Amino acid sequence: MKKRRLLWLSLLLMVALVSGCGQSDGGGTKNLLKVGTDAAYPPFEKQEGNGDIVGFDIDVIKAIAKAEGLDVSVQHTGWDPLFEAVKRGKVDAGISAMTINSERQKKFDFSKSYFDAKQTILLPKSSKAKRLKDLKGRKIGVQSGTTGEAVVQKNFGKTYQGIKGYEDTPSAIDDLYNGRVDAVVADDGVVKDYLKNRMKNKFKMVEDPSFEPEYYGIIVKKGNKKLLKKINSGLKTIQSNGVYDKIYTKYFGKKK
Ligand code: ARG
Repeated sequence: MKKRRLLWLSLLLMVALVSGCGQSDGGGTKNLLKVGTDAAYPPFEKQEGNGDIVGFDIDVIKAIAKAEGLDVSVQHTGWDPLFEAVKRGKVDAGISAMTINSERQKKFDFSKSYFDAKQTILLPKSSKAKRLKDLKGRKIGVQSGTTGEAVVQKNFGKTYQGIKGYEDTPSAIDDLYNGRVDAVVADDGVVKDYLKNRMKNKFKMVEDPSFEPEYYGIIVKKGNKKLLKKINSGLKTIQSNGVYDKIYTKYFGKKK
């Protein structure tokens, strides 16, 4: 008798557990914003030793989500795979210091811009180059598929032999450090961060006046108007209630 009751009880428990899981899954995912990023672009996004993903973009997307009553989970996808992950719905959105451009706009919907940027050249201090053209014939490291790569191709042609594409920006900068490339082209925020925190005085940043201004946006799957509206509305909220400025100051100091 006792045994049977125990059996019933455990069966009941199992049923409760299983249905409980199902429920929290369904209910949980509804308000969960799944975000992908290439977490190797400090100070915008980086992965800490314990796997946590932190940075300016992460604070921004978390604040946007909070303003819209959404939970967020952020996962590191890498750069190229991020586009695929958004396209296939593996994540709902991508935030990754991503420049809004017409080529990407054909495939994804972008939020309103949340950050101004430009390409810059990271060079050894001894270099005399004043603009990208002065580096003709030299080896230039870029992250493949970025606007940094595009700007080098624009100046030297798509088949320029000197261009060296990397899967992520830190690898390009490592190679500059070790003398395997002569320069790296990447976003100003990242280059400044490297100079300040990781490169010990041997390098400098050069700005080329011919580089166009860039604006970062958050991507969603093409046609996901509902989510885009939420992201834009959350962005508007945090830009007007001081939350955005607070995050900005935390990473870049007071706005000039
Ligand atoms: N802003 C540049 C672009 O959109 C570089 C972005 C790279 N971001 C990253 N997390 N690796 O192409």
